[in-house]
Amino acid sequence: MKIKRYQHVLLVLLVGLGAGAIWSQEAAQTRSLDAEGHQWWQHAVFYEIYPRSFADSNNDGVGDLKGITSKMAYLHGLGVDAIWITPCYPSPQVDFGYDVSDYKNIDPMYGTLADFDRMVAEGKKHGLGIIMDFVPNHASDQHPWFLDSKSSRTSSHRDWYIWRDGKGDGQPPNNWTSLFGGSAWALDPATNQYYYHLFYTAQPDLNWRNPEVEKAMLDTTRWWYKRGVAGFRLDAVDALYEDPDLHDNPPESETHGDPFLAYKYTIKRPENHEALRKIRQVADEYDAVLIGETYTRDINDLNEYYGSHNDGLQLPMDFMFTNVNKLSAPEFRHQIAGVDEAKGWPAFLIGNHDIVRSYNRYGDGVHNDAIAKLMGALYLTLRGTVIMYYGEEIGMENNDPQRIEDVKDPIGRVGWPKMKGRDGERTPMQWNSDANAGFSKREPWLPVPSSARTHNVAEESMDPNSILNFYKKVLALRRTNEALREGTYSALNEDDPNVMSYLRSYKGKAVLVALNMSPSPQKANLDLGNKGFPSGILKSLLATPLSSAKGSEVTLEPFGVFIGEVDKQLLKLDRDHCNIGRPATLRRDYAETNCSCHRHNFHPHPVHCLSEKTQPSRFRNI
Ligand code: GLC
Repeated sequence: MKIKRYQHVLLVLLVGLGAGAIWSQEAAQTRSLDAEGHQWWQHAVFYEIYPRSFADSNNDGVGDLKGITSKMAYLHGLGVDAIWITPCYPSPQVDFGYDVSDYKNIDPMYGTLADFDRMVAEGKKHGLGIIMDFVPNHASDQHPWFLDSKSSRTSSHRDWYIWRDGKGDGQPPNNWTSLFGGSAWALDPATNQYYYHLFYTAQPDLNWRNPEVEKAMLDTTRWWYKRGVAGFRLDAVDALYEDPDLHDNPPESETHGDPFLAYKYTIKRPENHEALRKIRQVADEYDAVLIGETYTRDINDLNEYYGSHNDGLQLPMDFMFTNVNKLSAPEFRHQIAGVDEAKGWPAFLIGNHDIVRSYNRYGDGVHNDAIAKLMGALYLTLRGTVIMYYGEEIGMENNDPQRIEDVKDPIGRVGWPKMKGRDGERTPMQWNSDANAGFSKREPWLPVPSSARTHNVAEESMDPNSILNFYKKVLALRRTNEALREGTYSALNEDDPNVMSYLRSYKGKAVLVALNMSPSPQKANLDLGNKGFPSGILKSLLATPLSSAKGSEVTLEPFGVFIGEVDKQLLKLDRDHCNIGRPATLRRDYAETNCSCHRHNFHPHPVHCLSEKTQPSRFRNI
């Protein structure tokens, strides 16, 4: 199993108007709360698109906005609710868009603002919101702000970045290091000062202590909201502020491998949260959602991102979930239980453009397709928002470069051969089995793996047992089943080392999810009575071919999935019959919806007290 290289790096180190406005106005109206007080984004599945790699409309080998627009029907059919597009602003592409040189435009390689507006409008037609990626921590060294900043020590943008004198003798101001390797300080010979860059040298950090920077960044978000975006994914939110006194970070010997401590004075400064609150205030003006790239150490750390009065990020991503890097029921259980008790709404993901694809991370080389379905069933049935990564739904795998000459990602170029970079998880979307997986008629910027011949949208659409069709079914279930949408999460059989099972319950209805995380067949007897569902009969909603339930015993094939509903009819009949029928035999030790008849008294057999077949018609179909 491969390691999550970039996440490892981050964890170890960082541990309009026009058509668009229509979406925001209308969406604001439709984004009312549901019966549970939930907002649209709480039920949503966001789909992350790496624009270079999704669909290439002009066949130049790099994806573009028109390409994305052409795939709206696919995304709608898949069953997602919104798209997050990683940066498509003008950029020298040193870090493939995370080095922005103009925050209010579209890079010509991806199209124009008019293409953007059309994409928003087309998304709206398909019920899909657009989330942009906002990079507030740093800009490109080619951004006019930085060009002016470095032009002289007295330029008007000088203080928009973090400039300091060196220690003399060619020594940088302190020992701070960059997440992309080496010192975090780069000398500008013309003005003989160093600028700070947490990431690549071409990505100088903006100075958030300067009110002009803060204003410019907040105005940027307003500008895009007016153009119709439904929110932002905020990049590197841990890193907005650094210690103004430039204390050295603790040396390796003192950090004991703690990635957060190693960056004590450069990430997770308390001031970050103040900036996030301000970004949120603007988001609230437009009823927009903020998703954060939040690498957190524990639940307390995650809680901080929600804000002390829920005035921080609505959806700080739970990267701790992605840290469970093996199929381990106890570990997932532990992690999910923690996040379920966090003070905000959970946001789950299993992959992104910085992490080795989940297909490789969890796959055992033999049952990879089954495991891909299992993982989809897991994170799409939890209580929380889901952020999918393009290609997960077809079982795309990493295609890592084999030679340094082929590496595009700066992390891979600097870190080779120890770190091969993130190219492997960013390869073109696999649409069909034609050349270049149907992504482009020209050789794409990154090569597709040979598995694209079988793992692609066209082939998988035709196979009822494909990963794609499985994902579609889970996504449809999540959308239509109230218990999956609104229900509480409650773990079952917590000592089972192999089968991860839980109940999602809502107003007397419940869905049970049972996932076999082992390579051998498993049975699990699930005590639903304990959870207030005494009838305990499961009706299959979605299961892998050899997985089923009898009563409340679930049989699962290796890496099998069973999702079943606790029979509503039975529960309702139980309750109503109890209410009408035989008060003397009632057990009222559950809440009203959990009322059960005293089975042995009522019925000669110790079976469920009512069933459609055995009951008089007046109790049916109530
Ligand atoms: C975030 C992005 C990553 C990028 C880095 C610097 O971690 O996800 O891709 O390299 O920020 O912007």
